Amino acid sequence: MRARSLESPGKRAHVYRAIYLVSAALPVLATVAGAQVRVASPDGRNEATVEIHDGKLYYSLRRDGRALLLPSLLGFELRGAPPLRDGLHLVDTTRNAVDETWTQPWGEVARVRDHHNELKVSVAETASPGRQFAVVFRVFNDGVGFRYEVPDQPGLKDFEITEELTEFALADNARAWWIASNRPRLDRSEQLYSSSPLSVLDSVQTPLTLETRDGRTFIVIHEANLVDYARMDLRGPRMEGRTLHADLAPWADGIKVRGHTPFVTPWRTIQLADRATDLAPSVLGLNLNPPSVIQNTTWIKPMKYVGIWWGMHIGTMTWSSGPKHGATTANAKRYIDFAAATGLGGVLVEGWNVGWDGDWIQNRNAFSFTQAYPDYDLAAVARYAHDKGVKLIVHNETSGGIENYERQLDSAFALYHSLGLDAIKSGYVADLTSEGHSHWGQYMVRHYRHVIEKAAQYGIMLDVHEPIHDTGERRTYPNMMSREGARGQEYNAWGGEGGNPPEHETILFFTRLLDGPMDFTPGIFDILRERGTASPRRPEEPRVRTTLAKQLAIYVVLYSPLQMAADLPENYEHQPAFQFIRDVAVDWDTTRVLEGKIGDYVVVARRERNGPSWYLGAITDEEARRFDIPLSFLARGRKYVAEIYADGPGANWLTNPLPVTISQRPVDATTRLHLVLAPGGGQAIRIRPAR
Ligand code: NOJ
Ligand code: CA
Repeated sequence: MRARSLESPGKRAHVYRAIYLVSAALPVLATVAGAQVRVASPDGRNEATVEIHDGKLYYSLRRDGRALLLPSLLGFELRGAPPLRDGLHLVDTTRNAVDETWTQPWGEVARVRDHHNELKVSVAETASPGRQFAVVFRVFNDGVGFRYEVPDQPGLKDFEITEELTEFALADNARAWWIASNRPRLDRSEQLYSSSPLSVLDSVQTPLTLETRDGRTFIVIHEANLVDYARMDLRGPRMEGRTLHADLAPWADGIKVRGHTPFVTPWRTIQLADRATDLAPSVLGLNLNPPSVIQNTTWIKPMKYVGIWWGMHIGTMTWSSGPKHGATTANAKRYIDFAAATGLGGVLVEGWNVGWDGDWIQNRNAFSFTQAYPDYDLAAVARYAHDKGVKLIVHNETSGGIENYERQLDSAFALYHSLGLDAIKSGYVADLTSEGHSHWGQYMVRHYRHVIEKAAQYGIMLDVHEPIHDTGERRTYPNMMSREGARGQEYNAWGGEGGNPPEHETILFFTRLLDGPMDFTPGIFDILRERGTASPRRPEEPRVRTTLAKQLAIYVVLYSPLQMAADLPENYEHQPAFQFIRDVAVDWDTTRVLEGKIGDYVVVARRERNGPSWYLGAITDEEARRFDIPLSFLARGRKYVAEIYADGPGANWLTNPLPVTISQRPVDATTRLHLVLAPGGGQAIRIRPAR
């Protein structure tokens, strides 16, 4: 429910109309003081200012009175029309205030508070044709979102955006953790993070996490509710100044966005926090997405899963047909038996469908999404899974053959639905689409949205690999569950120099994971074994650059409602540590980030949804670390047992990654746990009520 505006709207409108009248009469004054409007967060700490200066529209941002963003330009360049940028004057301002709490069907937290003050500033060109648009700011205690709204008007109907002029003029040469956005590569989001001062950035992806040099403020720039627009990257200052520019991914013909008024852009979001540990869980973007359009969400259920998957990545199985074909009926049944016996919810089967033979990226338009290879009986496997109470997750790799996929969507989804299959892992391994559009442009944004809507219609949950970054779609479509969109565990399978360094997951938590869940695919126990594939690996290097205990801790640290136990079933046999993967929850009521430093370490505690147990995950980079953790988050007066999976004696990611010490001890809200993490190590703890 919308709360009443804090001030009488009539009075406000009167004041601003008065300002407008004065400014119209005195144009010079208007550009200086008259046309400056402000809106602050409910706690008063964050304040956005919108102003017109020399006919151009700017916004700026302060926290506790200190400038974070200096006046930053707003506007657009258009094809075949003058830019929507110059000769502007203030037309009107309106305000609103909201304080409401809503519940997620699943998530990192059950309840989310949307508490913000809104300011809408409408502007128009003074000269003919007098085109109009508005910027709407919503200022929360945890940051700011703003978007453009372009009303239907005689002088602006169809338009083509060639550049969005939005700037983020940082007041401080903050330290940034970033991945590049301008690498024309298959793995464009799947890079290792770099850290450097903002002033040297070239082109980077969002969410972009920044820390001011005095360490007082953490700033995350991203976007929310990307529906029919191009994805936003940021073009950096490249040594000059500190201003980041919105950078939109193009259509094949170079146009960034095609639109028709009335039109709204995605929200540009600036999350703010005093400490890195306050950045997560991040709900700013969720609050800027519309509520769920799916009435009945009871069929949408988080789960753990195993899959015919790691074998392909280490080279012992193939997606393509032949003697090593992974997706055989017999193999799928073996995985289903394993999932049923261990209580894991689902089984993913990759390479089941015709199209994988030869170069599957070249042949992307040959993928069938209904026809299985002869050695895989889809209907029989689906039945078998159903009888065992296990969900069969269907794999749809498109390789960027979008039209090929869209042509088959209805028949494929209808088939899966008829077989009782309600989860898909999709994939988009490709740089450009076969039509030549950017992987991240408006064409692909429309495609991903189309698939989400179709999947919702057929009652299907989605786990998207090679996605567009998460902009909070899951609030409106809770069947959009998890996605990749970062460098995951698969890089460790390929070995050599390509694996993930020990610090990787401690950066992911404060960057990529702030936009939404990630299908990182943790749980590799086969850390040391020699690889079976072509590219040679230095024999002294482990395949996975973590200890085994850290693999367990990642289940708690890197949130995903679809969480894989990524290793081969045989590698979990006779492994006491596997019990943690069986036990750990995948849906959370509460999340507390207890300790954290970007690139160094993270300690997170989460309470399971609809249950009393807590799970704690601690991970470190290549440094050994100790933590003293008060368990004051536990219910007072209640007795619990902590089941602790710690790095064992001498554990070290490089030289001795496997030792895990499993122990139990009684704990309660007054206990302080002393955690010792090995280099590249971690610790996973289940805290359950004492029996
Ligand atoms: C890349 C995905 O990230 C990976 O999980 C999948 O196995 C391959 N594409 C094949 O679709
Ligand atoms: Ca991938």
